[in-house]
Amino acid sequence: MCTANQRFGSVFAVTLTRRRVVLTGAGGRIGRAITPLLPANWDVQGTDLTAIEGISTLDISNPDACRAVFAGVDAVVHLAAIPDPEASWERLLPANVVGVYQVAQAAVSCGVRRLVLASSLHAVSAVSDQTQVRVGDPPRPGNLYGATKAWAEALGAWVGATTPTSVVALRIGYFSPQRPDAGTVPTRELSAWLSPRDAAELVRAAVEAVGLTFVVANGISANRYRRADLEETMQQLGYRPVDDAWQSP
Ligand SMILES: NC(=O)c1ccc[n+]([C@@H]2O[C@H](COP(=O)([O-])OP(=O)(O)OC[C@H]3O[C@@H](n4cnc5c(N)ncnc54)[C@H](O)[C@@H]3O)[C@@H](O)[C@H]2O)c1
Repeated sequence: MCTANQRFGSVFAVTLTRRRVVLTGAGGRIGRAITPLLPANWDVQGTDLTAIEGISTLDISNPDACRAVFAGVDAVVHLAAIPDPEASWERLLPANVVGVYQVAQAAVSCGVRRLVLASSLHAVSAVSDQTQVRVGDPPRPGNLYGATKAWAEALGAWVGATTPTSVVALRIGYFSPQRPDAGTVPTRELSAWLSPRDAAELVRAAVEAVGLTFVVANGISANRYRRADLEETMQQLGYRPVDDAWQSP
């Protein structure tokens, strides 16, 4: 259980010391890629289901465990999920529905200043490929996975509106550690590519941006052709992507 002092300390105090940031799902593809690229003045604690080097154990469906880990931290970056557009309700329920709720409740209970939720462009994947999606677009998932991300966004909106914890939901596109091959990868994926260094920059911006309660942001690189508009995200968060799926390395 988080104490009153811990709540006061993290919500209201300006971070004068190193910023303490917890990552859930840190052992996954995005977590492993971005952790070494996050700001050097952050004190990052990676967590996942299984402890591996530098990552401690946290099952996000356990509320007591979440509170124990979130006590006194400035921000929680919630990556843990089943990221599978084909996944069944039974597979999605524990992490993508219940788990994100437990993470949000624990973050509020611990007075975490900023909760960053990994949403997905699958939250709007039923929008035609011919239409560029914008952050103001309402959820239009094309699969159940996308619907769980829409749930995460709704949860974030509720937390942002009713508690001191502010929330940024990142509609992440197509994350790939390497620049995708424009000759073989479909345009739908190329135009949604998010590179590792832009993913780290997006998380930095989502954690450090001030003066917001709830924001949906688009998470793609500075691709020449963009599945998702970036103007509002760049303006609201100060996100500065540099990579382009169509640019030669
Ligand atoms: N990779 C992409 O292209 C992409 C695109 C859009 C959104 N996202 C979202 O970004 C996040 C990270 O994606 P990723 O590609 O790194 O996924 P990943 O599957 O590689 O990593 C997810 C991690 O979450 C952990 N996890 C699952 N259930 C958990 C639980 N109950 N408690 C604690 N940890 C648990 C897993 O062990 C895994 O390490 C996910 O929320 C995903 O939905 C990813």
